[in-house]
Amino acid sequence: MHRLRSIHKIGARRAVPARTGRCIRAASGTMGVELNPSRIPPRELSRSVEETARLLRIDPRIPAAVPGFDAPFFQAGLAGYSDGAMRLVARMHGAPFCVTEALLDRTLINGGKGRRKEDPDLIASEIGMGEIEDNCAAGLGDHPLAGQIMGSWPDEIARGAEILAAMGHEVIDVNLACPVKKIKRKARGGHFLAFPEEAIGVLRAVREAVPANIPCTVKLRRSFDDTPEMAHAFERIFEASYEMGYVWATVHCRTVQQKYAGPGRWEFLRDLMQRRPDRIVFGSGDIWTVRDIFRMIDMCGVHGVSVARGCIGNPWIFRQARQMMAGLTPFGPTIEEQREVLLAHYRFSEVIHGARRTSRHMRKFGIKFAQHHPHPYAVKQDFIRCEDADEWAAVIDRHYGREAVERATSEGWVPAAVTDASAALAMEDADLDCSPADCGLPDTASSAGMGP
Ligand SMILES: Cc1cc2nc3c(=O)[nH]c(=O)nc-3n(C[C@H](O)[C@H](O)[C@H](O)COP(=O)(O)O)c2cc1C
Repeated sequence: MHRLRSIHKIGARRAVPARTGRCIRAASGTMGVELNPSRIPPRELSRSVEETARLLRIDPRIPAAVPGFDAPFFQAGLAGYSDGAMRLVARMHGAPFCVTEALLDRTLINGGKGRRKEDPDLIASEIGMGEIEDNCAAGLGDHPLAGQIMGSWPDEIARGAEILAAMGHEVIDVNLACPVKKIKRKARGGHFLAFPEEAIGVLRAVREAVPANIPCTVKLRRSFDDTPEMAHAFERIFEASYEMGYVWATVHCRTVQQKYAGPGRWEFLRDLMQRRPDRIVFGSGDIWTVRDIFRMIDMCGVHGVSVARGCIGNPWIFRQARQMMAGLTPFGPTIEEQREVLLAHYRFSEVIHGARRTSRHMRKFGIKFAQHHPHPYAVKQDFIRCEDADEWAAVIDRHYGREAVERATSEGWVPAAVTDASAALAMEDADLDCSPADCGLPDTASSAGMGP
């Protein structure tokens, strides 16, 4: 952890990235999963974000259950993204805990084989890249790690969870949140929220199958839909999980039906915590900048926060969170830091996916990483055109090499402090962003409406 810390020279001074180049197309609303924020309502805070961060301590029950989990945030499961490569990069920047992509029970049971044949509805196009080999711990640095299990039948989900435990995942997380459509009329992921008895059956089967010394947790959405009946179902499942010994729930404050449309309802999390302050809960939904981590903790009273879309192409969010907890001002990355991370992520990815898959896989990350560069649009378009490792290296040299650094310096560019004003500017930029689909890239998780 913090292996990169020593090289972080925190640039101070002014920092509004120069905005040159032109966007390709607006991304908002063009695909199943929006990767940029929209219409975030004002949050009711009791004190400044800086003060919340500075005074914050992790609930001791969390590191007691998962040794090494020492800060109140983690990198979420993100199908198509949160493989071993992304997790290692996050950990190098201070993420204390990570979750794998959602893994299908049958994939695990079949040793990764035969998924296509066995279930044509459920192939990679729907589930993203949740392949076993991408989600094994990526070396000794990839711990503590939650293996996330998803499926349709309690006995198979339990068997899959057992396999994940045997593979060395320190925590087993049960996905009752994914909004991908039902398969063969059978519930899966978030669709279980509409069937509380079945959901509770799944949770019980997993808890009984997983060795007692391995903590189980659950990922939920705030409800299946907005009806009182479904709100009641959420309560039953939520309560039952803790009664069965689940250590915490991560609650994504959108409904399953909502998928990703509209803002997350933080008020739901606040009300939940007011009713059940004793339950360990991690909040999820609309964590776009480091300041949102502390805003959610202040407003909602959750014990920690799951960082999802806000860390795609932005592992620095974890370093910034630790800086804020230490009373420091968080800054964006220097160009040299961006270069180092882009090279490391590519290298890790090649080990996991092989050369051919990596060049395509990394483009969607490049698009997001580009947002930190002084010339984001030009960089983004160059990443989009990358076909192989050589082209990737050429883009890195062109935009992140010594000459690029000198040019940025001569233009007066320095990394920005993360303030609400700089975040607002970034969101403005994001509105002009180019999503993978817009750019003609496959984005399997997105096209599936994947993710709780
Ligand atoms: C592309 C994508 C894939 C996701 N995959 C998973 C997953 O595999 N497991 C999971 O628990 N959540 C998954 N999620 C949900 C996120 O973990 C998170 O709950 C959600 O994005 C809300 O947080 P945010 O608004 O801060 O992004 C996914 C989300 C996205 C956007």
